Amino acid sequence: MMHMRILYYCHGDKDRKTLHALQQKLPEHHIDAWPDCDNRPEVEAAIVWQPPAEFFDDLINLKHVLSIAAGVDHLLDHPGLPDNVDLVRLTDAGMAQPMAEFVLYGALHAQRRMCELRQAQGAKQWRHDLTPYIADSFRVGLLGAGELGHAAAKRLADNHYPVSCWSRSKKLLPGIQHYAGAAGLDEMLPTVQALVCLLPLTRETHGIINASLLSKLPKNAFIINPGRGDHVDETALLEALNSNHISGALLDVFHEEPLPESHPFWTHPNVIVSPHLAGPTSVSHAVDQIAESLAILSNDGKPAGLVNRQLGY
Ligand code: NAP
Ligand code: GLV
Repeated sequence: MMHMRILYYCHGDKDRKTLHALQQKLPEHHIDAWPDCDNRPEVEAAIVWQPPAEFFDDLINLKHVLSIAAGVDHLLDHPGLPDNVDLVRLTDAGMAQPMAEFVLYGALHAQRRMCELRQAQGAKQWRHDLTPYIADSFRVGLLGAGELGHAAAKRLADNHYPVSCWSRSKKLLPGIQHYAGAAGLDEMLPTVQALVCLLPLTRETHGIINASLLSKLPKNAFIINPGRGDHVDETALLEALNSNHISGALLDVFHEEPLPESHPFWTHPNVIVSPHLAGPTSVSHAVDQIAESLAILSNDGKPAGLVNRQLGY
């Protein structure tokens, strides 16, 4: 492969584990860690997670931007991202399995009525009446049936939950009830006891879990959100929790991260807060996939995670 100059920034990579793994995997390329780069006009590729505001300044020959994440909202929202670059995201890269576990945990939590049992324990009440719902008739619905949504759906189905999925395009998923489009969403919502969000954050999906959507779910439905915080109208969710329309929520992502100390989610009895760890990036998988994508891009090919910038994912 031709030598390339690459600029790297990964928010949170304090010990530079990902940087060192990339340098080891791609010895033929020169990788600088932002802001240290003595020749920015020579940079052809960027490998990033949540780059700072000035990251793209003077990168006049930038061709490829590779996200060290499945989501690219952190890039599409970036005012400095040039229009003409290829944008590539991670596809699965070791995230699908832990993500499926997170979703399964949420389904089990809701189906076994753990919110109510925790409250009963707080009051030292022996609530023998809180029998679990039957898994076989506890339907879980997923918004998003992509790399992660599909893997989570399969894991739920393997654990005897009836599963429904909603996505933009129509799909045939064995054993899973599938819906598409606005009418499909309205049809699915009243049938699910737990709702999972595994959508990308785009113009169309921003704030999708709002008061209107929540009102279409049956009473006592449970929310599982490992997508993005901005999929949820947090005020509407709190209102639905406080009025007992929604029984509880397992949330991994938030409008503001880290979740501010004063946020009511921290202390809400029926909310479980997880610090954006539902599908942690596996450094070795991510580095392998980034190396493969770079090789394909430098041969003018289209890697698996090439983003459609019109659609935003
Ligand atoms: P993906 O493969 O691109 O799948 C996205 C799914 O959403 C697809 O099924 C797509 O429909 C559907 N979709 C997109 N826009 C839609 C719309 N307007 N209406 C209906 N469906 C729509 O993405 P992924 O790899 O599964 O990742 C999903 C998201 O998970 C990421 O974008 C990221 O935000 C989040 N994530 C979170 C963590 C974490 O740790 N919390 C980790 C990784 C990822 P089509 O199939 O029809 O295209
Ligand atoms: C993490 O949130 C990701 O998008 O990979």
